[in-house]
This record gives sequence, C-alpha cells and structure tokens, in this order.
Amino acid sequence: MLMPTRPESVSDAATPDATLPDWSAMAGELIQARQTVLPKRLGAPAPDPAQQHAILSAAGAAPDHGQLLPWRFIAVPHPQRDALADVFAQSLRERDASATPEQLEQAREKAHRSPWLLLAVVDAERGDPEVDLLERTLSAGCAVQNLLLMATALGFGSALTSGKALKSEPLRQLFKLGPGEQALCFVSIGTVQSRRKPRARPAVADYVSTLGTTPPDA
Ligand SMILES: Cc1cc2nc3c(=O)[nH]c(=O)nc-3n(C[C@H](O)[C@H](O)[C@H](O)COP(=O)(O)O)c2cc1C
Repeated sequence: MLMPTRPESVSDAATPDATLPDWSAMAGELIQARQTVLPKRLGAPAPDPAQQHAILSAAGAAPDHGQLLPWRFIAVPHPQRDALADVFAQSLRERDASATPEQLEQAREKAHRSPWLLLAVVDAERGDPEVDLLERTLSAGCAVQNLLLMATALGFGSALTSGKALKSEPLRQLFKLGPGEQALCFVSIGTVQSRRKPRARPAVADYVSTLGTTPPDA
C-alpha cells in the first residue's frame, strides 16, 4: 500500500496520538494541491499498473448508500481510441450537419489526448430503487474525487471532461451502457507537461450558511 493506513483505534482515541502522522495537514495539502490539468497538458508516462490499481482502489472507498455500487469506470486503452474518435466525430455530425472536416478532426483528436482515460458511469437502476439518482450520482462524484486525489498524491495531473457526446447514442453503444446507465464524465490522468495557475478557491462564506440566521447580503 502506498499510503499509511490509519489504525482502527484512532476513531476511539480521546486524545491526539503524537505518534500518528498529521492527517489534517496532509489531507489539506493534498486537497488544495489538486487542480485540473486538461488532457492537452498531460503526457506520458501514464500511471503504471500498480499506480492504476491504487487510484482505482481509492474510488472504492467512496460513500455508497446501501452499498449498491451504483457507478463504474470503463478504461479506454489506446487501441480503442480510434473507435472513441469515431464516436466524437459522429456525435458532432449528428448535432451539426454542417461541421467542417477541420472541426470533425478536432473532435476526433480529443480521443487521443489522455495518457490514461476512464469513463465514469452512474447506474440509476441497479439495486434498491429507494436510493435515487441524485444519491447515486453523489456517490459517483465522491468516487471520482477519490481517484483525483490519489492521482494527485502519486504526482500525476488529472482532469474531468464532459461534452455533448456523453449523451449520444454512438457513445452508449461503444461503451455498451445498460438502459439505466448514464455516462457522467471522462477522467484523464497522466504526467503534467504544463499547468495553469491554480484557480482562486471560493471563500467558505460563499457556500456555507447557518440555519436560523440571515445571510449578510439577504
Ligand atoms: C463533471 C465535470 C465535468 C467537467 N468537464 C470539463 C470540461 O469538459 N472541460 C473543462 O475544461 N473542464 C471541465 N471540468 C473541470 C472544471 O472546469 C474545473 O474543475 C474547474 O474549473 C475548477 O478548477 P480546478 O479543478 O482546477 O479546481 C469538469 C468538472 C466536472 C466536475
């Protein structure tokens, strides 16, 4: 295992254990270090098989109401990228019959950029119907964030990308999505070639309020 494992006893500890690593500082640094590095700024090497396993294992630690496992990831190895490129081009042609050959080529090219490419998929139907799609998608989002954080911890850059092709029938067919499944986003992971200045994070006050109090600008 690449990360130290937190002992069971930690959750019961009444006083901080000085022998333990400073989890909050590590977590804070890791979380703040993650930033989007778009696929065009990623290159080889991709994570090796052991690193891929560590990254994918992190996803499995996501909260999952009812343990439905309502999401999955589909890797897109390089020999399959031409098929994905065809889907991107086909999806663009369906949306815009007047797309130029250059635009179609640009759409195709996107399929080849990412060193390690995964499609994140959520399942609206698997298991207990009481757990609705919002909860399932939230669990998928947690799994995706775990992937991104472990990729960051291993020194890789990462990005999520979406786009209209995700909802297209050719994409559904290529990935053999079930009737209850929806493609959520692509996850790209690789070695950072260049990065942009990290974006300014929102202030806590921008996204937190307290029930029973009036927000200052209300
Ligand atoms: C579901 C999802 C899809 C995204 N799709 C795209 C995308 O298609 N293109 C893009 O440039 N960024 C995409 N992003 C990344 C956001 O733009 C990015 O997270 C945001 O700008 C914040 O920057 P940061 O990740 O560096 O903090 C996506 C993010 C999410 C959560």
